[in-house]
Amino acid sequence: MNGMLNIALPKGRLGEKVYAIFEAAGFECPSIKEESRKLIFENEAAGVRYFWVKPSDVSIYVERGAADVGVAGKDIILEYGPDVYELLDLGMGKCRMAVAAPKGFRDDARRTLRVATKFSKIARDYYASIGRDIDIIHLNGSIEIAPILGLSDVIVDIVETGTTLRENDLEVIEEILPISARLIANKSSFKFKTELIERLTRGISAVIGDRNK
Ligand code: PRP
Repeated sequence: MNGMLNIALPKGRLGEKVYAIFEAAGFECPSIKEESRKLIFENEAAGVRYFWVKPSDVSIYVERGAADVGVAGKDIILEYGPDVYELLDLGMGKCRMAVAAPKGFRDDARRTLRVATKFSKIARDYYASIGRDIDIIHLNGSIEIAPILGLSDVIVDIVETGTTLRENDLEVIEEILPISARLIANKSSFKFKTELIERLTRGISAVIGDRNK
């Protein structure tokens, strides 16, 4: 286990693209491409073990050392604030964190603003930074329907193509920050597997650099 590099990847389309980059960087694990419901894949010869985990859980595996490294969105890193090293911006999974509201919405500064979101900390930090009094309504998904049903005034959520907002008659009223996927590492793994993790980081940088040429 010790000589192996344990890698937590976000399950889904982004994870598959991320794996392709790790593979091109020399950390291949062919069995991961086989159709199956398995979640752990290993290539002993290359010294790697991959896990597919829920994207919002990657930082938990890495922070607690169940994975040495992983790929997590900047949104998750800011929301949960895991005690990990952020090594690289992969420049993938790009989207933005934004405030959205029904078309024509006017903020009444005399009232507490009701904000529905999955990202309570990011929303709280943002509104604290502009000194706006808010009430957070924490939801776990389908955030867009909250203002339609009168549950909230606005939402704080991820916008990628903007389709979900458009199809629910909402529009971005404020941009909070740009988001992208980051390579993160467990702090003690980084200390004990420095060479391996640095080789991975360098390999990935080279692959990304080539692709952006
Ligand atoms: C995210 C986000 C929006 C949607 C935005 O949801 O919460 O609903 O993507 O993408 P778009 O701008 O391209 O339409 P996700 O797919 O992660 O699902 P969830 O919120 O239900 O977890």
